[in-house]
Amino acid sequence: MLREIRNNYQKHKLEEVHLPDDPIGLFNLWLNEAIQGQVNEPTAMVLATSVHDIPDTRVVLLKEIDNGNFLFYTNYNSAKARQMATNSQVALNFFWSELERQVRVKGAITKVNANLSNEYFNTRPRESQLGAWASAQSETLTGREELEQKYKQLEKQYEGIVIPKPAFWGGYQVTPYEIEFWQGRPGRLHDRIRYYRIAQHDWEFKRLSP
Ligand SMILES: Cc1cc2nc3c(=O)[nH]c(=O)nc-3n(C[C@H](O)[C@H](O)[C@H](O)COP(=O)(O)O)c2cc1C
Repeated sequence: MLREIRNNYQKHKLEEVHLPDDPIGLFNLWLNEAIQGQVNEPTAMVLATSVHDIPDTRVVLLKEIDNGNFLFYTNYNSAKARQMATNSQVALNFFWSELERQVRVKGAITKVNANLSNEYFNTRPRESQLGAWASAQSETLTGREELEQKYKQLEKQYEGIVIPKPAFWGGYQVTPYEIEFWQGRPGRLHDRIRYYRIAQHDWEFKRLSP
């Protein structure tokens, strides 16, 4: 029965005396603990968008924290890209179940510069590079065959040569203005610490009721 599934969280806690002034420091610490702790897909984050009051979500992979911004890569013609072009306000959610932790981020999205996207694209495995070219992300297909044919044709086209980054593919960065750290605690008395950006390099935090 679903209603009988519940955990009593007791692995870690969040105490004000140990909190840094800057939430990015704490985020990096938690991310490293998730990576070291063998969490499955530690860099996976849910990206929420919203257009005309209709929300949408999907998982993407965090590829870098650059100057306090959260970076990921995707197709610039995808559904999410079209949504973010209409409304640049997004939210991210990391759930590291093995550590009984989640992090919630709110922020504004911008595209990263093409040099950075090129640099990252060049480090990707060849199959992923071809996959980026082959996929008109979020568009309908006549069947799986169509996608595989396209991939094979691209494989031939680029045989023995460097695959350039498609113009329709690249990075986005989320510049956060709110970051919440949630740590599961016994008896549903969880720790919630939310940081608010009050100036470019200045944050304050408050404890929220779980
Ligand atoms: C673990 C995981 C990681 C993913 N990483 C990415 C990613 O980094 N970039 C991306 O475009 N899609 C990624 N996807 C696929 C997206 O969830 C989504 O299906 C795709 O981006 C299309 O979304 P859209 O139609 O809302 O634009 C990932 C999916 C999973 C489950």
